[in-house]
Amino acid sequence: MRGRDPNLKVHLPAWARAHGHAVIDDGVLTLVRGEADDARWRGAIRAGGPGPAGIVDRAPATWGLAARGALVEAGGPPLRHADLDRRDAVWADIAPKLYAQALAGQWDPATAVDWTAPRDHDAGVEAAVVQVMTYLVENEQAALVVPTRFIARVHPHFREVVQLLAVQAADEARHVEVFTRRAELSGAPLGTSGAGGRASLQTLLDEGDFSLAAFLLSVLGEGSFLDLLSFLERHGPDPVTRRVAHLALTDEARHVAFGVAHLEHRTATEPKLRGRLRGAVEHRHDVLASTAGLHAGVYDALVVLAAGSWTPAAIADGWDRVQGLVAEMDEGRRRRLARLGFSPGEAAELSALHTRNFM
Ligand SMILES: [Fe+2]
Ligand SMILES: [Fe+2]
Repeated sequence: MRGRDPNLKVHLPAWARAHGHAVIDDGVLTLVRGEADDARWRGAIRAGGPGPAGIVDRAPATWGLAARGALVEAGGPPLRHADLDRRDAVWADIAPKLYAQALAGQWDPATAVDWTAPRDHDAGVEAAVVQVMTYLVENEQAALVVPTRFIARVHPHFREVVQLLAVQAADEARHVEVFTRRAELSGAPLGTSGAGGRASLQTLLDEGDFSLAAFLLSVLGEGSFLDLLSFLERHGPDPVTRRVAHLALTDEARHVAFGVAHLEHRTATEPKLRGRLRGAVEHRHDVLASTAGLHAGVYDALVVLAAGSWTPAAIADGWDRVQGLVAEMDEGRRRRLARLGFSPGEAAELSALHTRNFM
């Protein structure tokens, strides 16, 4: 190295030391390339590949927040809270596709609903709509909290699952909003919140196992809600009620699809899981045995909503429709349980043990 700076002899060795190189000074300054830069990456590991094909069976905590597919320098802080680090514990092959669908299906409550659409049904039917909306909001809040609690626990290596859970939470946030806004349209106070319904939702929040929570919330609960929302879309007395039910229904179908696909994946690789799924339903049933489940006010409100008026003949029709809804929910649950490998008898038994609160 040659230079005009009189301090070159001082500065060059200092710079070289800092970068892992050496300087020989035998009258002429010679810079000798060190190995530090290569050594730094010598123990580095490639964190799988960027696409879903690059996913590994178990993601080490030491990969931390590194992008999937990155070359990870050793020595960073390990992830402390991502205990869901096994592929089989969180994965479903449909996750990347569902995530793309979820993004394409996002809607804005301000423009997706014509909030000024006419409502010409009587005050009793409106009160029933408000009660149903009040009930929906508390269920949506449970559905928002459950995936959110798991987001930080899923290793970011399984990023499609984290992304899907994040959009799912955003979906539920919108559901809370539109059902609240529909309830507020009447200008009357909101309806009642029963202790039994909240006890049922609390058991969902208390489930700390990702797959069991997906089973109880998405397969059984949101699965039942598909029928409930489609019922509200069909029988809602006004365009706003029908529209918000329709919008929520399209989102919920994705939530159910992921839950079913994940549990299909997991029960296929781990048949013993079925026993634990069964245990989770039985345990939840026992915990809730002394509670009322769905409170009578919600059931009655569904009858009046589906009746559309207070004449005895209409109420009788409304009653039949709600009985039909309960039967549809049971049928849907049994169908999904069969997809997870339960026999028809077991599926019927487990569906019957599902909470009376529907979710
Ligand atoms: Fe929802
Ligand atoms: Fe949902």
